[in-house]
Amino acid sequence: MIERRIAIAAASFVLALTLLIGLSVKLFGIALPTCLTDVRPFREGRVIEQAPKRYEIHYVAKMWKFDPPSISIPPGSTADIYLSTADVTHGVQIVGTNFNLMAVPGAVNYGRVRFERAGDYLVVCNEYCGVAHHNMAGVIHVTENAVAPPPPAQPVLGGRELLDKYGCTACHSIDGSAQIGPTLKGLYGSRRVLANGIVVVADEAYIRESIEKPELKVVKGFEPNMPVMSLSPAEEQAVIDFIKTLK
Ligand code: CUA
Repeated sequence: MIERRIAIAAASFVLALTLLIGLSVKLFGIALPTCLTDVRPFREGRVIEQAPKRYEIHYVAKMWKFDPPSISIPPGSTADIYLSTADVTHGVQIVGTNFNLMAVPGAVNYGRVRFERAGDYLVVCNEYCGVAHHNMAGVIHVTENAVAPPPPAQPVLGGRELLDKYGCTACHSIDGSAQIGPTLKGLYGSRRVLANGIVVVADEAYIRESIEKPELKVVKGFEPNMPVMSLSPAEEQAVIDFIKTLK
């Protein structure tokens, strides 16, 4: 009998607690944590100067680029690196240091590195992550004349910077040279022969469509392996406007 009363009391307590939590969430709008990478700070590359020679780096690996692509800090700096990925698994190694971490979808990995000596530290991806895996590299400049990182604000990027940010230039050159994808030089207004033999003109609508649905109109001679990038409408326009200038 006693056990039964204890069991009922325990059950009532759990029920009351559940109701209380549920009610608090609803009444006070308390946000319950979900996936860690939904937390905004880890979705963008960022260098934060916490104190002289103490840095916090949010490093985002993505096909096929590191964000930020280039970092500059003074010698003797300690960097706390929070690593995440925007897409698939990447392996991030900072050559010349013991930093070697996987960037795993849905997780933020952490490592601390001290950069004693000046020099350019190459950052490479050592996990196969797709067709441009071998192009995936970044750099950490350790130099006395390190430029202070910009304050954490949302920068307004131009078309040229956006192409780098989204890793487009890993496959599309802007100078006419051959790469995995067609060059962007001379693209605007040109005639494109598609894989199915149909000829289209690369106007604004075509370029926008190719960014949003890259598999739809694949140019003859190229593989349909471009990943979908989610650019905002304003970013798309900036990229298209820049491509127009590449005559
Ligand atoms: Cu990223 Cu290989």
